[in-house]
Amino acid sequence: MTLIVRLHKERMPWMENRAVYPGFFDPITNGHVDIILRGLKIFDKIIVAVLKNPKKKPLFSTKERVAMIRTIFTHQPEIEVKAFDGLLVDFSRRNRANIVIRGLRAVSDFEYEFQMALMNRKLDSEIETLFMMPSLNYSFLSSGLVKEVFLLGGCVEDLVPEIVERNLREKLKKGKYIYSN
Ligand code: PNS
Repeated sequence: MTLIVRLHKERMPWMENRAVYPGFFDPITNGHVDIILRGLKIFDKIIVAVLKNPKKKPLFSTKERVAMIRTIFTHQPEIEVKAFDGLLVDFSRRNRANIVIRGLRAVSDFEYEFQMALMNRKLDSEIETLFMMPSLNYSFLSSGLVKEVFLLGGCVEDLVPEIVERNLREKLKKGKYIYSN
């Protein structure tokens, strides 16, 4: 258990340790799933916060992204999935979570993550960011790459949950697959 979480538990033993795991999840990959499951070793509850991002045009709608994640974790009530917009710190506060989990795959992630963590701290000093590393097997994986590989006929079987692969195939069949990075 991390020091932050232990201190929190010691001070408020009646309280559930909650963390938010935010992202765009277009679509969720096995790398994201790996981080969520690792997070459950530390937290009682993880709220997966799916960004409704008007800036990016997603392949999957917010509803579809949320539904896929809910399906993957159907039997795990300790994982909640919610869509959000606005500031992440506001969402975290509303959901009584003061820890934000972010996955760090490689050094290349660091700069963006560092900026984001410090900006979130500036916005709300009570909120801490916790970086977790996924399994080495997923350290190269991203939603964007999954979409590109799938569109070009590559196999993504080990890279995404089954429901995601099925839905990618469905999009392709319906001709709704317009790849934009
Ligand atoms: O999957 P992603 O694209 O790495 O997720 C990025 C996300 C959703 C964590 C980030 O864009 C975010 O928190 N957006 C909400 C808006 C916000 O709070 N911005 C200020 C913090 S930098």
